Amino acid sequence: MTQISNIGVFTSGGDSPGMNACIRAIVKTALSQGIGVTGIIGGYQGMIDGNFVKMDYYSVKNIIHRGGTILKTARSKDFYDYEKRKIAYENLKNMGIDALLAIGGDGTYTGAKIFGDEFDIAIVGTPGTIDNDLVGTDYTIGYDTAINTVVKAIDKLRDTAESHNRMFIIEVMGRDAGLIALRSGIASGAEEILIPETVTYIDHLLEKFKKGWNRHKSSCIVIVAEGDDFGGAEAVGKAVKENFPEWDVKISILGHIQRGGSPTAMDRVHASRLGHEAVLALMEGKRGIAIGIVGGKSTYTPFEKATKHWNVIPPHLLNLAQALSL
Ligand code: F6P
Repeated sequence: MTQISNIGVFTSGGDSPGMNACIRAIVKTALSQGIGVTGIIGGYQGMIDGNFVKMDYYSVKNIIHRGGTILKTARSKDFYDYEKRKIAYENLKNMGIDALLAIGGDGTYTGAKIFGDEFDIAIVGTPGTIDNDLVGTDYTIGYDTAINTVVKAIDKLRDTAESHNRMFIIEVMGRDAGLIALRSGIASGAEEILIPETVTYIDHLLEKFKKGWNRHKSSCIVIVAEGDDFGGAEAVGKAVKENFPEWDVKISILGHIQRGGSPTAMDRVHASRLGHEAVLALMEGKRGIAIGIVGGKSTYTPFEKATKHWNVIPPHLLNLAQALSL
């Protein structure tokens, strides 16, 4: 067991539903082990600015069901600068913080890797992003809530699409990752799902629409991840409208509603377990790793490996989407 006296906890990058449940689990676990917890407000930027708050049981009361993050979050440009990172480290030392728990996605982990290599501080990462694009965990905190939000929205769009015999091209989040599109698309019976990890051959797609749509369907839902190589829902919609001017095509960009809302029970339980395990990992002397859960078991993945998200799309999901399209 490594002696830790004060853990600094922060959320960074895009917020995700369940981050609060994770913070709660971290604070409760650490305090029960006699370890203090300091909240860092606004992620890496908060470290640089010295924006700290002491946390106790009261600080995490009644937050498990709340979306967003009580610790605020940011994408800090300053943290790219070594001199600013040095200030951050000095601020942490002045606060008596001897270990960090970082809740976030690949940008957060990349920052943690650099910071942990440069300065003598133990850092463990906890996967918090709606994108589910990290290696070393089956699910990231917020993903389940986000895909359920998307599915609810698509179900509503399907109702109106069906009434009007329309095609809806719906853009979901995922700048670099298609797992929101893929699972929500399968779950909502989408006719096509376009993701950044696979190449979109527009001619092939248009040909497929020509043959497939209107044969036995009166509505068509196409899900496009925002980072799709063809250029998102606007670009796909333009190509469809140009080729099929007689079709009634609508574009809908779901945007940031996907990031908010009360976390699902799955996300709350998952986030609680990850937060709890992250504290235990620090106590066991682990550092420079991200905690995860794979097949129900806790896993520890070095930061540099956890962010290699090009290989997280399970082929069976791609095959399923393909088999059930149009
Ligand atoms: O990483 C989470 C995410 O929601 C991505 O899906 C999306 O591309 C990005 O964040 C949007 O970030 P921002 O809210 O900073 O524009």
